[in-house]
Amino acid sequence: MSLPDKGRSTEELLAEITRLKREDLPVRGGKVTAYVYDTGRPEVHEAAARAYFEMLEVNTLDPTAFPSVVEMEKQVVGAVADLLGGGSGIFTSGGTESIMLAVKAARDARKTEGRPRMAVPVTAHPAFHKAAHYLGLVVDAVPVDPVTFRASPSDVEAAITEDTVLVVASAPSYPQGVIDPVARIAGIAAARGVPCHVDACVGGWLLPWLREAGADIPPFDLSVPGVTSLSCDLHKFGYAPKGASVVLFADPAMRRRAYFASASWPGYTVINATVQSSKSAGPLGGAWATLQALGREGYLELGRTTLAAARELRAGIAKIPGLRVLSDPESALVAFGSDGDSGGDSGGDSGGDSDGDGVDVFVLSDEARRRGWFLQPQLSYAGIPANIHITVTGVTLRGVEAMLEVIAEAVEAARERGPAKLPEGLVELVAGLDLDALDDAAFGELASAVGVDLGGSGQPEMAVVNAVLDALPADRREAILIRFLSVIYS
Ligand SMILES: Cc1ncc(COP(=O)(O)O)c(C=O)c1O
Repeated sequence: MSLPDKGRSTEELLAEITRLKREDLPVRGGKVTAYVYDTGRPEVHEAAARAYFEMLEVNTLDPTAFPSVVEMEKQVVGAVADLLGGGSGIFTSGGTESIMLAVKAARDARKTEGRPRMAVPVTAHPAFHKAAHYLGLVVDAVPVDPVTFRASPSDVEAAITEDTVLVVASAPSYPQGVIDPVARIAGIAAARGVPCHVDACVGGWLLPWLREAGADIPPFDLSVPGVTSLSCDLHKFGYAPKGASVVLFADPAMRRRAYFASASWPGYTVINATVQSSKSAGPLGGAWATLQALGREGYLELGRTTLAAARELRAGIAKIPGLRVLSDPESALVAFGSDGDSGGDSGGDSGGDSDGDGVDVFVLSDEARRRGWFLQPQLSYAGIPANIHITVTGVTLRGVEAMLEVIAEAVEAARERGPAKLPEGLVELVAGLDLDALDDAAFGELASAVGVDLGGSGQPEMAVVNAVLDALPADRREAILIRFLSVIYS
């Protein structure tokens, strides 16, 4: 874009935004089973949008200048604390920022001889790796049970060292939607004098409602002895617009460790509760309004429909020949893989079709996308096979039969097509690429030479890309992904 010489009308701009969004996945309607959370109640999203707009230009940088921010934040954080075992908290821009602040607080609470370390189950969100990367910690990866995908408490215990400043459990972990044994892990951490963070970014504002609707949800929040902090995203199952999460600390002294102040310059004094400094109060207004517009009754009703949909979906998938649901998730996240695919990453059997009865899940995902549904592919990792992830939300129940029909059709189509066909030698080529010797343009050309159009829009065929990534070790995947991002923003 070049800056126009003369300003343009609002109508023209909105028309252009509509055009720009033409190829976007729809954010409403339940056909996109990741990234977006739809209540199926337009009036709730409307209330949030209007409140967001009302707070849009308020800057949370200085709470003394805009007291509305303090009042709203106290109400939102208070609601989260009431539901999740108390504590004092901070409203943040998302799960990653909540986790970043919990890690910073833990790091600053304890001086270690060596570099501070964190014990993190392999199924925990990469936000912990990102926090470690930004804040100078070392991650000690903890294996999970190969059948249930829950972190094993004895392995957590074994990972704790003199320099461990934080132990992590998820409620639930995103990939398979299962809840780690929080009480046991937090108990082990407490016995060793180490704080324990529960990542309830997905589950914090979901599991209590599922429990009330009849699901068997083990204790996971700040009321569990040994749990010292917890993250809960309101922009996930709180159904608030993006930019809304809360991190809670059992001890207010720990919350202060998350804060940052600087008087070391001649400008205004800086006091920040979050990573960002100047920021819009729009997301806070949106989250506040969503909580108010739905209320207890609204969330409980959404919990009931979400639970019913998740159960129906799991049962339906289990009946489709060639598929199997991974583990027995307590939450509303469902992952399924190819029958007979027992796992193993970087093995290069594409998306799982090792023995012929199964189906390549990456091809399946592309086939669903052709039919207007986005089902999220997950690469194999740490012995967990490649699979498909579905986040069930409030709106899913209405379309669960249609979703099951599409999955069944996509399985048939994927079986007919067979596994993604990788050009001979492609994996080896990518594995051996000297990325430092290639600029973005050369990388883009190389990709298109092997049939992958990085500049394309619309409905990309991702099976080949996913199959190549799946065949690479994680560090190589990461290097390629960073290059991919750089190319698409060139
Ligand atoms: C369990 C879990 N933790 C943390 C995050 C990170 O959240 P965000 O994308 O809001 O930064 C996610 C996102 O999916 C998640 O599922």
